[in-house]
Amino acid sequence: MVWKRDESHLPEQLRGLRLPMIGSPLFIISVPELVIAQCKAGIIGSFPALNAREAEGEPPLLEAWLKQITEELDRHNQENPDNPAAPFAVNQIVHRSNARLERDLEICTRWKVPVWITSLGARVEVNEAAHSCGGVVLHDVINNTFARKAIEKGADGLIAVAAGAGGHAGQQSPMALIREIRQWFSGPLALSGAIACGESLLAARAMGADFGYVGSPFIATHEANAQEDYKRMIVESGAEDIVYSSLFTGVHGNYLKKSVVRAGMDPDNLPSADASTMNFGDGSSKPKAWKEIWGSGQGIGEVTEIVHAADLVDRIDREYRAAGAKLAAEFIG
Ligand SMILES: Cc1cc2nc3c(=O)[nH]c(=O)nc-3n(C[C@H](O)[C@H](O)[C@H](O)COP(=O)(O)O)c2cc1C
Repeated sequence: MVWKRDESHLPEQLRGLRLPMIGSPLFIISVPELVIAQCKAGIIGSFPALNAREAEGEPPLLEAWLKQITEELDRHNQENPDNPAAPFAVNQIVHRSNARLERDLEICTRWKVPVWITSLGARVEVNEAAHSCGGVVLHDVINNTFARKAIEKGADGLIAVAAGAGGHAGQQSPMALIREIRQWFSGPLALSGAIACGESLLAARAMGADFGYVGSPFIATHEANAQEDYKRMIVESGAEDIVYSSLFTGVHGNYLKKSVVRAGMDPDNLPSADASTMNFGDGSSKPKAWKEIWGSGQGIGEVTEIVHAADLVDRIDREYRAAGAKLAAEFIG
């Protein structure tokens, strides 16, 4: 049997992936080494532009990263014409406190970044910058209202961030969120939240998402820029070890309880914070929130060892195909 995905509704940049999956942008953690490994493994790799942070007076590190990623993937494609790398994505935090946004847009436009992921506010000028260099914009949203706004402002596709996602997660069930968006939107749609195995990726596709948007499992890879303790904590934790709180950045997010305990707090009795404390001027609202209080989604019960990113993609690919074949058999004959 020939397996073929219907990709007729997707723009060119998002077609033909080995696996319908995006390695999501992770603050501090996503660095060129991880992005390159994800793309070579056949999924879209990504990083937040704010991760590329140069010292005062030095040339923009973002420029150096884009050069490295572009050249390395070009080289791979020349050497492996039958097995080309997937395109990469850059995440722009479109929050008013991100003082670097204009400069970063200019750099990304010049380097013709193929996929742009925007979060924390949809802005027309960001979409225009992406489109001016042939890029595709995916905007992340936590509900249907924000989804409509993002498309009205010119985003090409959506990332539905459901309950259980790592970082700034939503609160809605993925089933409700994806189906409400699919009632009116037929363009590119990714599902974010607790996808850590092929079975869950298949479920996302069955619901109507085009891609699984996978973050936390990549923290436990050799290529991730995370402390060994953090990687091990991901391996050793499950859904019950995650706490949902607004305390650390002003926006609700999911974090590893054990890291909260290590920082001297009680994860079961955290006060809440208000969103006005959010500040991305220097890259993060509170650097400590991500350096000491470690973010993670609920899906990490599926993560049992620290591996290379390519091995993680291989595992999810194997599971996805096996689960798909098993389910398809129910419908044959
Ligand atoms: C440690 C951490 C950092 C994150 N940083 C960002 C970020 O800088 N920008 C962004 O758009 N999303 C960020 N996210 C959210 C992810 O891109 C994605 O929505 C989420 O990880 C998917 O859920 P999962 O972790 O359960 O796979 C972060 C998530 C985590 C766990």
